[in-house]
Amino acid sequence: MNRRRFLGLGASVLGAGTLAAVAGPSAARLLVEGRPGRLLRSQLDLPEAFRAPLPVPAVLRPALSDETGDHYELTQQVASLEILPGVRTEAWTYGGTFPGPTVVTRSGRTAVVRHRNELPVPSVVHVHGGHTPADSDGYPVDLLLPVGSAAPPDSPDASDSSASSMADMRGMHGMHGMQGMPGMPHAEGDTVVGERTHTYPGRQRAATLWYHDHRMGFTGPGVWRGLAGFHLVHDEEEDALPLPRGERDLPLMLADRSFAADGSFRYPAEDPTLAEPGVTDAYMNGVLGDVILVNGAPWPRLDTDRAHYRLRLLNASNARLYRLELDPRPPGGDALVQIGSDGGLLAAPIAHDAIEIAPAERFDVVVDFSRYRPGTRVRLLNRFGEGRTAEVMCFDVSSRPVVDDARVPDRLSTVEELDASEAVATRDFRFRRSRRDGWTINGDPYRPGHSLAAPALGTVERWRFSSDVHHPVHVHLNHFQVIGRNGEGPGPWDAGWKDTVDLRPAEAVEVLVRFTDYAGTYMLHCHNLEHEDMAMMADFTVE
Ligand code: C2O
Ligand code: CU
Repeated sequence: MNRRRFLGLGASVLGAGTLAAVAGPSAARLLVEGRPGRLLRSQLDLPEAFRAPLPVPAVLRPALSDETGDHYELTQQVASLEILPGVRTEAWTYGGTFPGPTVVTRSGRTAVVRHRNELPVPSVVHVHGGHTPADSDGYPVDLLLPVGSAAPPDSPDASDSSASSMADMRGMHGMHGMQGMPGMPHAEGDTVVGERTHTYPGRQRAATLWYHDHRMGFTGPGVWRGLAGFHLVHDEEEDALPLPRGERDLPLMLADRSFAADGSFRYPAEDPTLAEPGVTDAYMNGVLGDVILVNGAPWPRLDTDRAHYRLRLLNASNARLYRLELDPRPPGGDALVQIGSDGGLLAAPIAHDAIEIAPAERFDVVVDFSRYRPGTRVRLLNRFGEGRTAEVMCFDVSSRPVVDDARVPDRLSTVEELDASEAVATRDFRFRRSRRDGWTINGDPYRPGHSLAAPALGTVERWRFSSDVHHPVHVHLNHFQVIGRNGEGPGPWDAGWKDTVDLRPAEAVEVLVRFTDYAGTYMLHCHNLEHEDMAMMADFTVE
């Protein structure tokens, strides 16, 4: 790891103003302050905060359950939603809502989800944090073309005419900065028309996962327009704990958005027809909205009992980082008791006053609202925001008497600690911007079919991620454990099994990951969706 070198790169991205500081000890701190993204303003009046009730996404019912598992059907479709009061917004949705319906599965039980694409564009669906066989994982060129599209050229029923109409299809031109790799496995993708079935064997512990679009070059605009939902896994270990349940177990999807004057989602695509990927230069480092949505509602409020609540916080924003705090703090502080991270329960709870959450991360926390007086309005704040984006939602603590048996036990789970001495390989992945190629990993923009690593199934590896600016790095297939940052120990929000870790500017983060159960080609990438779409992705192949 050459720390000087990426410090220098960080400075070149941030501009000359920071250059003078690079040599000194304060350089790292200076660079840490620079958070990604640029604010895109809405072109209509924004609603007052704390008017909309907090929506909770519906749970998707299986179409069929039998000995092979639970079978679900989801239609990806355009829907006209009322997100801002009195304003219609055309969204791209799973099942007609934003967020999409919550898929709830059991550890050890197979879930099969058949997706049907009635959108005007191709799609790819990925369960983020899912331990999924490669052919169901949502590889970004495994396109699902809209119902009624011409068959892909290599399918048995394709004719010459359909091959040419395929090439004309919107958004088929791949990724900004991408280089074609003819003959490479996967470079062409497994393209199907109309419907695709994804099989999730459920060989993983209880966790808060989410599903979202993952189409090559268009994940940013796809998620921005609404293609995201929760996927929860439950298990017996979690069931046995006295944690809050039912209406007091709430998934909260945080997402910032901007709206155009006509009510549509505003997004700074370089090509507004979305035939070509990428955003305008000014938004290269990420798009920030000026409206904070929770479960699809702007700055909502929740009537809250004086009881324990489990809040499954997900940052589904394209690029925005949040520093979440409750205001007022309860007497004695430690309002947010973390019980889980991306990959499920921690061994023991960790109390926080604030949680920093990067795109795609999840923090599973319990808040005891009985610590507040009846009638208190408790705001969830974003200390990284300014003006309207400094508020997220509020909890209005009620005075009605309630029964609350829930609590947070001192021990939550048994979490195996991976040991660095088990690692059979150490690999470096450098996340940085290149003047010529956009956002790169190890100097290269994404090339489907070109693997940067080939870990052996069943082994543990040590992966080192390093950054120029902030990058939330995500690894598919297996969760990992963070063992250090810049040569020191893990940070306050690194506990447990993670699948996404935020690299701060000029930072090197080391993780241990064990590759289990499934061989095949998977992704690692930056989850700042504008970085991802502008080529900050790589394949790795488990062999
Ligand atoms: Cu949340 Cu590769 O994705
Ligand atoms: Cu990035």
